[in-house]
Amino acid sequence: MPSIVTQPVAARLTHAAIFLVVTLKPDPRCGDAVRALCGDLPSLLRAIGFRNPDRRLSCVMGFGSAAWDSLFGQPRPAELHPFREIKGVHHAVSTPGDILFHIRATHMDLCFELATQIMCRIGEVATAVDEVHGFKYFDERDLLGFVDGTENPVDQDAMDATIIGDEDPAFTGGSYVIVQKYLHDLTAWNALPVERQETIIGRRKLSDIELDDDAKAPYAHNVLTSIEENGQALEIVRDNMPFGEVGKGEFGTYFIGYARSPARIEQMLTNMFVGQPPGNYDRLLDFSTAVTGSLFFVPSASFLENVPV
Ligand code: HEM
Repeated sequence: MPSIVTQPVAARLTHAAIFLVVTLKPDPRCGDAVRALCGDLPSLLRAIGFRNPDRRLSCVMGFGSAAWDSLFGQPRPAELHPFREIKGVHHAVSTPGDILFHIRATHMDLCFELATQIMCRIGEVATAVDEVHGFKYFDERDLLGFVDGTENPVDQDAMDATIIGDEDPAFTGGSYVIVQKYLHDLTAWNALPVERQETIIGRRKLSDIELDDDAKAPYAHNVLTSIEENGQALEIVRDNMPFGEVGKGEFGTYFIGYARSPARIEQMLTNMFVGQPPGNYDRLLDFSTAVTGSLFFVPSASFLENVPV
């Protein structure tokens, strides 16, 4: 049996990305156009990426629950469902999204060209409902000024955290991804003393060193998002990106998290928005509002290449 090729969910982090979320129009040509794109994506990536291979162009394509049913039918991935809103101390909204394209490269030119070519293929049958052009800010920092991504698993650990194995045999090699667009109140955040910001994140701001466990607040971001099952850490791979528009006073973080089960990302979100225990919520959310929220299944690259047109 040929080995299964995964999509590049655990690709090395880059300095540019486009997060493109589209919804599908009720157009009879829709299914054919999208299924044709699934098979053509590798050749599009080759054509654009080969012009500058050092810039590491990659693209992950994910499908929302309803889109999966209309495009591919049965069988369906065991844990695929629409993003479930969370109403706790803060609100994690659920917003529409049929297909996610997570496009990464070291430079924006390649990302922009691939996004353009994708929309040339499906623009008549799909509407871009959210498009965020993300960048890395100084030394891998978010716009809150903290280094973001340090504790990500790498290499085989990243694959183990994100790629479905025997638990769903029809979809081995796939993954799940949750995205949320957060807007920050930077004026309020920057008015906090740095020590208070460090208590909220659980790390030092300048050095990025983690606070000692006994110095961490129970609601620190890295306490609430560190979860375990049977003594084993349940990890995810994140590739958050800053974005913004200074003229609008808009400053944000695009959160993207991949995992072999969406349940672990949902558990982290519940800890953040409701609190663990309830009420012990993530103070980062007093300064950051989630304005989107969607869940997608990321089939293997082998699945995409073999989608019948
Ligand atoms: C850690 C920022 C949302 C999961 C971190 C760190 C920062 C950060 C600065 C510490 C450095 C690192 O290990 O990366 C943010 C910002 C967010 C956000 C600015 C949005 C406003 C989320 C969400 C989740 C999440 C929604 C999960 C649902 C994690 C995890 C860690 C982490 C798992 C590593 C914890 C550890 O093992 O120490 N985040 N984050 N983050 N974040 Fe977030």
